[in-house]
Amino acid sequence: MISLQIVNFLEHQEAIQSVRLSVFTVEQGVDPALDLDGLDGTAYQILVLDNDKPVATGRMLADGHIGRIAVLPEYRKLGIGSRIMDRFISQARSDNLTKVFLGAQVSAVPFYETLGFRRYGEDYMEANIRHTPMQLMLDI
Ligand SMILES: CC(C)(COP(=O)(O)OP(=O)(O)OC[C@H]1O[C@@H](n2cnc3c(N)ncnc32)[C@H](O)[C@@H]1OP(=O)(O)O)[C@@H](O)C(=O)NCCC(=O)NCCS
Repeated sequence: MISLQIVNFLEHQEAIQSVRLSVFTVEQGVDPALDLDGLDGTAYQILVLDNDKPVATGRMLADGHIGRIAVLPEYRKLGIGSRIMDRFISQARSDNLTKVFLGAQVSAVPFYETLGFRRYGEDYMEANIRHTPMQLMLDI
């Protein structure tokens, strides 16, 4: 059974980082040193489990900056990424934020477009991957 929850980072750090490591470091070759930026403790963290197995994660900072969205390959295209994003968007609305935003890896731009995000700036390089700034304005 798939469950999705907002969790405390310190309590679930190992599970969250196992998914990030698998997707960003092993699959995409991102330097693991870039993962820990000191902001995780302040963020809303989502952990998705398949029974007890961590299969997806993501985070949103208090200003609506979404990041670290990762779904294990065998769990993609099942709607899990969209569920994570919908949960963050609901949280942002509850917090009276006017927008949510992120830096999308170019390969993930169509995914965010299906959720209503639009590009708003120039592409940039981060961790050797081209990123596109995208945002979703929230009608409150
Ligand atoms: C991008 C990612 C989070 C999407 O998660 P997911 O669980 O597969 O997404 P969903 O199943 O909710 O897909 C939602 C929609 O986006 C589409 N979509 C998902 N990934 C896509 C992609 N890479 N390219 C084009 N469309 C995509 C799906 O087909 C679906 O469309 P539909 O509603 O018309 O069927 C996942 O592929 C992933 O973890 N990728 C590797 C890490 C990564 O790139 N993270 C983003 C960093 S910015």
